[in-house]
Amino acid sequence: MSDLKATVKETTSNSGHAGFHVEGYEKIEYDFTFIDGIFNTENPNLAECYKKWKRCLAVTDQNIYNVYGQQMERYFEHYGLELKVHKTKIGEKAKTIPTFLSIVDSMTEFGIYRKAHLTFNQEPVLVVGGGLVTDVAGFACAAYRRNTNFIRIPTTVIGLIDASVSIKVAVNYGNYKNRLGAYHAPIHTFLDFTFLRTLPTAQIRNGFAELIKISTCSHKGTFDLLDKYCEQLVEQSFGRADGSSKELIDAADKINREGIHEMLKLETPILDEIGLDRVIAYGHTWSPLHELVPETPLRHGHAISIDMAYSATLANSRGLITDVEHRRLLNLFSRAGLSMDHHLFSEDILAKATAAILKTRDGLLRAAVPNPIGQCTFLNDVSAEEMNAALKRHKQMMKQFPRNGEGLEAYVDASDTGYTENAKAEEERIVEAAAKKAGQLNGANGHVNGSNGSNGHSNSNANGGLNGSAKINGNAKRNGALSNGPSGNRVDGLAKTLSSTNGTKVNSTAKVQSWY
Ligand SMILES: NC(=O)c1ccc[n+]([C@@H]2O[C@H](COP(=O)([O-])OP(=O)(O)OC[C@H]3O[C@@H](n4cnc5c(N)ncnc54)[C@H](O)[C@@H]3O)[C@@H](O)[C@H]2O)c1
Ligand SMILES: [Zn+2]
Repeated sequence: MSDLKATVKETTSNSGHAGFHVEGYEKIEYDFTFIDGIFNTENPNLAECYKKWKRCLAVTDQNIYNVYGQQMERYFEHYGLELKVHKTKIGEKAKTIPTFLSIVDSMTEFGIYRKAHLTFNQEPVLVVGGGLVTDVAGFACAAYRRNTNFIRIPTTVIGLIDASVSIKVAVNYGNYKNRLGAYHAPIHTFLDFTFLRTLPTAQIRNGFAELIKISTCSHKGTFDLLDKYCEQLVEQSFGRADGSSKELIDAADKINREGIHEMLKLETPILDEIGLDRVIAYGHTWSPLHELVPETPLRHGHAISIDMAYSATLANSRGLITDVEHRRLLNLFSRAGLSMDHHLFSEDILAKATAAILKTRDGLLRAAVPNPIGQCTFLNDVSAEEMNAALKRHKQMMKQFPRNGEGLEAYVDASDTGYTENAKAEEERIVEAAAKKAGQLNGANGHVNGSNGSNGHSNSNANGGLNGSAKINGNAKRNGALSNGPSGNRVDGLAKTLSSTNGTKVNSTAKVQSWY
């Protein structure tokens, strides 16, 4: 929510010409509430926000609607509120102007109510989903009649601890990520971690990587908790999976609250990204370029983990973190199934990525590294020789780790890219859910691999009941290429020309954006 106040003065320039000077400020305020079960009819919090309007326009993605749609409908019905749901497609491919426009059209059709300039008199759009939905729909709200209120309910770890902490909203455009966007704060964000019960483990890892980022460079207490409960947090959906212990739930809540608080403290003084020395840039120096280098791009969490692990080796080589701390950090990535190295993470990529990031960071590297764990230093004086020596050492160390430091489910699949829509028939979903219940489908680890044609997500509850705890992993397993994309496997809008250097394919166009 924002409130713009400005004054105007008549002026005379040094040359004697008359003019005006306008000076103003925009007050920004927004709230967060931690609440488990936001669509539980016993929790009136959300309904209160819509009571005045007697109705609600919600924007969500098709996956979320498949899993939570019935519960949403029941919730609004219970409170006598009319609900209209706009369903977007999923994946980075849908983070586009056409998706943005389709949301705008729904807002017009719905007739979102906007009275005068008073923010509290504007009807808020409800946005439910991961960073993708909250970014696109948030941008539609920023642009719609110049400023429309919205309420955010993030449903992924990235959404909960990162995208919905920020007020940045955007769409991809012209081969660039987040090229068109705005700073637009919602009036309220409800943080409901029970959504993580249905989030695939690969997506949980993505968010876990961002939590390692924040804690390693600015919050030792959170780092210690991530270290202590690593496997349980990843496997048991941050304590929201059935059967999670009270101890795990408490630890997860502490991590999330402190992580979000830390993120807010780091973000709020620089809401508009003016500051370039950014703690939250840890892991985001070489990764923006490297993330897109493999034929099938790396998942963001894996790309930043490789960068963070390598940066830690660099920091250790300089004596900024001890051998024990270094090993502890590397072990944490490994235990979480996150990548620490990749065969295409090479001297050549480091050089290209360095050149690219210097352009976005005002000519300085500003590589955030831990010093020691829980605090941060920015390195500007890393020579190519030092970088390459650290890389050599890093790769040598990786031999001591499982999978030579490569991560699990490290590459984007259709659930990230959106190349395949959720074409799975309802019947198939019900059969799969029933089979899962019976423990017949890869039941040992409690995860079910979806079959072809789907985006890898499925309603986990055959009887339409929600808050199911089963997770259904994406079908698009790494197989040299994305297995179910209709044509090609690039993230739409980010596809690049590839050229060959020393036999390995590398990105010839070093386009790097500073997203965190
Ligand atoms: N605004 C910011 O500051 C900011 C920060 C970080 C990331 N982002 C943006 O966020 C986007 C990525 O967001 P994300 O990682 O949340 O991914 P996402 O929104 O694409 O969601 C990932 C997948 O999980 C599914 N999903 C979401 N919640 C689910 C749930 N509870 N149960 C089952 N399935 C669920 C989605 O349908 C999708 O297939 C990127 O576009 C990135 O640029 C923005
Ligand atoms: Zn990031």
